[in-house]
Amino acid sequence: MRIALLGFGSVGRGIARVILAKDLDITVTGIADSKSGIIDAAGIDLAAALARKENGGPCGNAGVTPADVVAKADYDVLVEVTPTNVDDGEPALGHIRAALRRRKHVVTSNKGPIALAYPELRALAEENGVFLKYEATVCGAIPLIHAMQEGLAGNTISRLYGVFNGTCNYILTRMAAEGLTYEQALAEARELGYAEADPTYDVEGIDAAIKLVILANTILDMRTGLDSVERTGISLLTPDALQLAEDQDCTIRLIGEIVPEAGVLRVSPRIIAKTHPLVVEGTLNAVTVETDLAGDLTFIGKGAGSTETASAVIGDLLYIQSRHVQGS
Ligand code: HSE
Repeated sequence: MRIALLGFGSVGRGIARVILAKDLDITVTGIADSKSGIIDAAGIDLAAALARKENGGPCGNAGVTPADVVAKADYDVLVEVTPTNVDDGEPALGHIRAALRRRKHVVTSNKGPIALAYPELRALAEENGVFLKYEATVCGAIPLIHAMQEGLAGNTISRLYGVFNGTCNYILTRMAAEGLTYEQALAEARELGYAEADPTYDVEGIDAAIKLVILANTILDMRTGLDSVERTGISLLTPDALQLAEDQDCTIRLIGEIVPEAGVLRVSPRIIAKTHPLVVEGTLNAVTVETDLAGDLTFIGKGAGSTETASAVIGDLLYIQSRHVQGS
């Protein structure tokens, strides 16, 4: 399978490292970040590109842009992991549209295009007979989308709720455990590199709301948008509020919830018993899915990180490889 890799930051490099470490049957024929790129139908020396980038250099040649790679490289799957603005989904949205029109499969970790334009992108993928996969957009390493689309395909999902944002979970964990102020805990979370470029997206619940919109629109047959999510963030929570919850053997978590039949999507801080399965520590994510056949299932795992996000992207790539690319 030949891939073009757009974005060579933490996620893109994580994917490259996994391809090399596991010696996957994947050839990278195009690679680009915002400063440079390479197109080579015979296959790029990924280890050399990684080494250049990790030594502070460019991954390729100045003048080769992501748009060039999308339009001109010879690949089966576009892996779109560029730093992208969630407000308009760009530049990822343009790259994804262009690749689908070239009849290329697409795997992305970018939330913006899927939250904003899924019906259009899905129609484009179907018209062109290709896959559009986006497991990494929701809860990082947790294979929630695969589980819901495939493993739970015969189930009716009556409710889904949980911790969708690692930054908020880290902040709340640290405020409760160490009595840190919100500002101190946020500063620590930013240092860990989990927070969005603008952490307002995390702490005001926007990131969690975007993930709910992705699940609602792509799996739960809802037609909804960010404006329909009732949303309260954690920025006004005080150490005293956390302490009050602690005094009752409870804690506070930012919980995202979807009740499909009622058309409800909401994100808000909730007081929950410390023994509840959704009370996970640090940057973890945790999601409970309530179903008619399988009962209640709770998924816990890392919601971000270079290798963890690569795990989701590689899973999507291998899904496409097993179903389509080999032998075609
Ligand atoms: N900022 C996000 C979080 C990253 O903290 O969960 C993963 O989407």
